Amino acid sequence: MSVAEKSIAGAEARGHGFMASSVGRKVIMAATGIILFGFVTVHMIGNTQAYMGAVAFNEYAKFLHSMLHGDGIWIFRTVLIVAAGFHIWSATSLTLDNLAARPEGYRAQQNVASTWASRTMRWTGVFLAAFIIYHLLHLTTGTVHPNFDHANPYANFVNGFKVPAVAGFYIVAQLCLGLHMWHGVWSFTQTLGLSHPRYDSLRRNFAAGLTILVVGVNITYPIAVLTGFIH
Ligand code: HEM
Repeated sequence: MSVAEKSIAGAEARGHGFMASSVGRKVIMAATGIILFGFVTVHMIGNTQAYMGAVAFNEYAKFLHSMLHGDGIWIFRTVLIVAAGFHIWSATSLTLDNLAARPEGYRAQQNVASTWASRTMRWTGVFLAAFIIYHLLHLTTGTVHPNFDHANPYANFVNGFKVPAVAGFYIVAQLCLGLHMWHGVWSFTQTLGLSHPRYDSLRRNFAAGLTILVVGVNITYPIAVLTGFIH
């Protein structure tokens, strides 16, 4: 099947409308990406309570679980799950379309204009999905935690990062998050129509600044436990 035939076949299989068009799916990917990066940023800020000690951190965790009489966290979890689902769906579907439409020998040419972060988006995305599953089993359900105590999130945090392999995995995952965020923030500002020579340096600085802040602070958590600063 020729490249043009493959593209037409793919488009026909998806049907018509906003979700079927590649622009529509890019907008969905950008909108859900904003929700997910927003969450990661707020989560990073919330976790700074660990530097205030056990009481402050556990009070913060209690607050999260008691918002709107306990319904708040479920509303919030539903939004996150729906956003993550649409994000993964749009990314997968756009990737499959790109692979189907890519002419032989195009890859080398494309690499000239793209950055390493952009070329690794799908791999950092898959790694992050695996990290999130592990992270939930580790610090939310405690399934893979050595001594989880539902009543003491601070102890779970400290005891969890005392295992060097686990702390190392979290650090690698944050570097992956960094690559994904850096290119992701750059891309969604483009999808939102801010791609203009006048705004490009602002977009570049915003993407780099937000990424360095989130990843930089997140990496301090396992390091602070490993070095005994948080204990
Ligand atoms: C080193 C960095 C991080 C630390 C120290 C950390 C810490 C925590 C802790 C302690 C909890 C449990 C809160 C509780 O049950 O009270 C939690 C939950 C969670 N974390 Fe993280 N986290 C980190 C990075 C991330 C990243 C990068 C993501 C997403 C990409 C993420 C996504 C989540 C999610 C989705 C939950 C579940 C929230 C809920 O209960 O619905 N975390 N995290």
